[in-house]
Amino acid sequence: MMQFIDLKAQQARIRADLDQRIAAVLNHGQYILGPEIAEMEKSLADYVGVGHCVSVSSGTDALSIAFLALGIGAGDEVITTPFSFIATAETIALLGARPVFVDVDPRTYNIDPALVEAAVTPRTKAIVPVGLYGQCADMDAINAVAAKHGLAVIEDAAQSFGASYKGRRSCGLSTIGCTSFFPAKPLGCYGDGGACFTDDEALARRMAEIRNHGQDRRYHHPILGLNGRMDTLQAAVVLAKLPIFDDEVTARGRIGARYSELLAGANCVTPWLAPGNTSVYAQYTIQVSDREAVVKALHDKGIPTAVHYPVTLDRQPALASVMVGSADLAIAHALAERVVSLPMHPYLSEENLREIVAAVTAATAALPPAAAVG
Ligand SMILES: Cc1ncc(COP(=O)(O)O)c(C=O)c1O
Repeated sequence: MMQFIDLKAQQARIRADLDQRIAAVLNHGQYILGPEIAEMEKSLADYVGVGHCVSVSSGTDALSIAFLALGIGAGDEVITTPFSFIATAETIALLGARPVFVDVDPRTYNIDPALVEAAVTPRTKAIVPVGLYGQCADMDAINAVAAKHGLAVIEDAAQSFGASYKGRRSCGLSTIGCTSFFPAKPLGCYGDGGACFTDDEALARRMAEIRNHGQDRRYHHPILGLNGRMDTLQAAVVLAKLPIFDDEVTARGRIGARYSELLAGANCVTPWLAPGNTSVYAQYTIQVSDREAVVKALHDKGIPTAVHYPVTLDRQPALASVMVGSADLAIAHALAERVVSLPMHPYLSEENLREIVAAVTAATAALPPAAAVG
């Protein structure tokens, strides 16, 4: 079976540096908040182009810590997209706040800024756009609504780290940017990890305290926090991957574009990049008219697929009693039935790519036309 994501090819490329960096951590023994953490935070803040990076234990905890730092809690409303991974809304709900879902743009699959303002109420505290599949949402438009109503914007960049929006990098486009270093993400470690980015020094300090039990110095806890630290060993892994990250981002963009070029004649809807956006193609996702048939046909040829995501957040039982519902989410619902992700990683060969494209072309040929939603 072909790999959906090939982490081994990447590891072979950096193995010597990786071994050295891991050995350095084993030698100094500072497993919690060791020197690699500060080194990685500085490198990542510079990469994104913001003043501060606070590394944390996962992309999920990055969101929780950002919300806690902004004082989001019981009774507050947070406007977000229904077409995302559960973490985007789960973290809002766990704080006692209520996710308010508005529909997505049928071309980018990201939150539709034109619909956000109508969802603002006196209880709204923040907007959480997600850069699904690897391209940022329309952050300027979202920031404009936020500025008008005095709201914070937390970018969920778990899938878009490395992407740029109008020449600026994902995670540096709003009040706080949150990302994930889950192994399969564009920049992944070898376990769980994540980071929060901001230009606001006071917010950065608060997030650093919250990730460490709300302490400002040892055993002094002015605010409530959690154990949300990233391991030093995981920072060593990220540091080993950073020197090749630009190259991998370029390869992802090239492979995504090549997929779209080769699939142009097939009966599927390929990803659309908004002007001013680059994508890191955390997923290369197409729309088809009969997903089950396509998944089976590819599986029979040894080609793995995945569905991100088959159920929208507004239809998740866990959120039913806390979400503010009523908006028309027809586009997100239609997408959830049609999307399927193909193997995607920076080391995907032209040969594999052609094999996948041939399989998709054959599997979709006799299906009803795959018209774009919306
Ligand atoms: C959009 C989105 N948000 C948040 C997360 C949570 O990240 P993590 O798995 O590191 O907690 C993920 C990935 O899993 C994601 O895809």
